[in-house]
Amino acid sequence: MDVSERFLQTALDGIHDCISIVDKNFQIIFVNEAASRRAGKNWRSLLGNKCYAQLWGKNTPCENCVTGKVFETGKPQQIIKGTMGTDGRKYFMEHFVFPITGKEGTVEYTVEIFRDITERKVLEEEREQQRLELGKRIRELRHAYEELKSLQNQLLQAEKMASIGILASSLAHELDTPLATISGYCELLAEDIQDENLLGRVKTISEQVIKCQKTTRGLLDFSRKSNCERKLCNIPNLINSILSLVEHRLIIHKIKLHTTFNDQTPSVLVDGNQIQQVILNLVNNAVDALPQGGDIFIETRVNHETKSVEIIFEDNGVGIPHEKRKHIFSPFFTTKEPGKGTGLGLSICKNIISAHSGKITLESRVGSGTKFEISLPL
Ligand SMILES: Nc1ncnc2c1ncn2[C@@H]1O[C@H](COP(=O)(O)OP(=O)(O)OP(=O)(O)O)[C@@H](O)[C@H]1O
Ligand SMILES: [Mg+2]
Repeated sequence: MDVSERFLQTALDGIHDCISIVDKNFQIIFVNEAASRRAGKNWRSLLGNKCYAQLWGKNTPCENCVTGKVFETGKPQQIIKGTMGTDGRKYFMEHFVFPITGKEGTVEYTVEIFRDITERKVLEEEREQQRLELGKRIRELRHAYEELKSLQNQLLQAEKMASIGILASSLAHELDTPLATISGYCELLAEDIQDENLLGRVKTISEQVIKCQKTTRGLLDFSRKSNCERKLCNIPNLINSILSLVEHRLIIHKIKLHTTFNDQTPSVLVDGNQIQQVILNLVNNAVDALPQGGDIFIETRVNHETKSVEIIFEDNGVGIPHEKRKHIFSPFFTTKEPGKGTGLGLSICKNIISAHSGKITLESRVGSGTKFEISLPL
């Protein structure tokens, strides 16, 4: 080695990157200390040998060999290579290759510089991982926020419905006295009127007033607060009295009511108000499921085997798609547009029936209708 060669060797040995020079036959003609250290061999033993064999442990030139490409194109190349180290760890090497051209301009040697960028790569990968994780968290948070917002809307709606209930019951209360007065005066008038024609008219007024009274009384009964007061109740009677409240609505919606009540239905220990609330919720749902009108069938029967009274409530409305069936008893699950449904009706029904140690199940077919079966233990 002459002086300049020694200077060069010393300078390149001081560099941490692996540097080697190879000829057209991939024979190593120079390596610095970092490169021989990485290869785990003495630099002298590397010289004159194939780079792919000594540095990369291969029998033939490496796939996608950039050194070969520099010889072909005469242009510098750069790639990042992932390799498995002898310690079983994955390393990332940045590989730069420059041509050294001869007098005729052809590439005679290439200078190869390998830089271990494993640490940088690992950091980059960690950062990418954190970025993905953060994105996931943000999406989860956004989702939770949307859910919360929708719950808040539903709660507001529920409050609104509750205040409408209060309003309706106070209205019924206000109407009760004047209706009783009208009814009384009609009776007085009827006593004094001789003319059959006039008497008929007064009777019609009286009948209509009685209808109004029935509605307001029903509304008052229904809105009366109850702390789960259980009494022996006749289920058909309970159903009939709540149905009288909604008769008008059903007529308006062109819905026909068919009831089949078992006369032998024994009385059950229930909170009548709550059972009426269940029926009312089912009626309301059936009305919504019958936008063009239709039929509602209510049947009561006694199941001697399970010792229970059963209420079968059926409509021939739109039905419930299979994927929605499992959600319909969940609070706030609704398919109705905002302002129309709070999604509380059926969850309240389920709570009430469970509190009575009973069961509520459903069967439904899209386009054919929905059937709810309630069983209350005797
Ligand atoms: N008879 C039925 N036919 C078709 N779908 C029904 C029927 N009953 C309930 N559903 C479906 O189940 C959902 C939940 O009913 P639920 O009574 O709990 O709430 P809602 O009727 O939407 O609102 P709310 O009763 O609080 O006013 C409804 O939105 C509707 O999609
Ligand atoms: Mg409902």
